[in-house]
Amino acid sequence: MSEPVRICVTTTSRTYDVLVGAGLLDELGRHLAAVLCPDVAFVVTDTNVGPLYLERACTSLREAGLKVASVTIPAGESHKNLSTYGSILSAMAEAHLTRSSLVVALGGGVVGDMAGFAAATYMRGIPVVQVPTTLLSMVDSSVGGKTAIDLSVGKNLVGAFLQPSLVVADVQTLSTLDPYVFADGMGEVVKHAVLADPTLFTSLEERPVTQDADEAYLCEVVATNVAIKRDVVATDEQERGLRQTLNLGHTIGHAIEAAGSYREGHGHCVAMGLCHIARAAERKGWAEPGLAQRVERCVALQELPIATDITPAEILGQAAHDKKRHGETINVVVPTRIGAVEMRTIDFEQFGELVELGCRPMQSEA
Ligand SMILES: NC(=O)c1ccc[n+]([C@@H]2O[C@H](COP(=O)([O-])OP(=O)(O)OC[C@H]3O[C@@H](n4cnc5c(N)ncnc54)[C@H](O)[C@@H]3O)[C@@H](O)[C@H]2O)c1
Ligand SMILES: [Zn+2]
Repeated sequence: MSEPVRICVTTTSRTYDVLVGAGLLDELGRHLAAVLCPDVAFVVTDTNVGPLYLERACTSLREAGLKVASVTIPAGESHKNLSTYGSILSAMAEAHLTRSSLVVALGGGVVGDMAGFAAATYMRGIPVVQVPTTLLSMVDSSVGGKTAIDLSVGKNLVGAFLQPSLVVADVQTLSTLDPYVFADGMGEVVKHAVLADPTLFTSLEERPVTQDADEAYLCEVVATNVAIKRDVVATDEQERGLRQTLNLGHTIGHAIEAAGSYREGHGHCVAMGLCHIARAAERKGWAEPGLAQRVERCVALQELPIATDITPAEILGQAAHDKKRHGETINVVVPTRIGAVEMRTIDFEQFGELVELGCRPMQSEA
């Protein structure tokens, strides 16, 4: 196996590597032992990922001389709650984990967020290694150190910051994903390209990313996206608010997601939100001509939707609850050309105008 791509992430609390490669699951123990020597490596996975990859991960950890224990939680966002969180903590205590132990999060963003939060709080905090197995968790949730669980009144309301000690992304695991879940991750990939990377954007136009793409291309796309997220997160301390640019497409995307009662995946809603704000920005004269059509085409090439049936009134109703809203104003990230965005604080009336402006796809104007 060729050596993985290594992306070094530096934050105020920790410096760690994100390894991206094909077949890395079998190398997990070796890479982990190079940075940490826990008394027990406790693997948290879910009922979909466990049957596919738990044995391989545990074997690799044991081969590196580590003592291993695990827990399998029910798969899905509906289980990202206090009850599952409690069951993970109980399993950790029953496995006699100490402050010298370590949590390995093997799964998508749900496992990553929950295992990360359990690690952040067990005995006031033990390290976590993220082993993301969805495209979304590889390019987004495993980097940046946010962990959370949902309450019945809202998503991600309880959480903590815990930077991982290591991230190991094996792109071979993407082959078993449901195609819809794979496409969900592509929503965040296109977003990253629009906000920060014209070269990646051109590459997505010329060579849309499919699940059966060759491993080298998948590694390149994942590694590029990890580096984009890393750069935004790392510079946040100096440039307050830069991290907010990662919300591109999210104000409208979240509203579409909530108005549709979460039937559509997050990445699909981000893709629609991204096209929506690009159209609004162009029609408003804030973005260069042609931008919206280019974004729409690129989104469609990744088999993601470019517009929603949800009405502007419904979108506005949902956005009124958005946490990015400050009193009468709302912060929106506006694309100006491929690779550049600006933050605008606008009043809610102007936001309503943007939502109206962005509804209609560009093709109808061609
Ligand atoms: N912490 C952050 O910064 C951050 C950022 C973005 C999203 N998130 C969170 O991430 C979550 C969404 O993550 P997700 O999209 O990865 O969802 P997920 O973890 O629910 O995974 C989607 C589905 O795919 C299954 N699965 C995972 N890997 C698989 C594989 N390799 N093969 C077959 N099936 C597999 C899972 O069991 C699940 O059914 C949300 O809860 C969201 O809030 C967190
Ligand atoms: Zn997102």
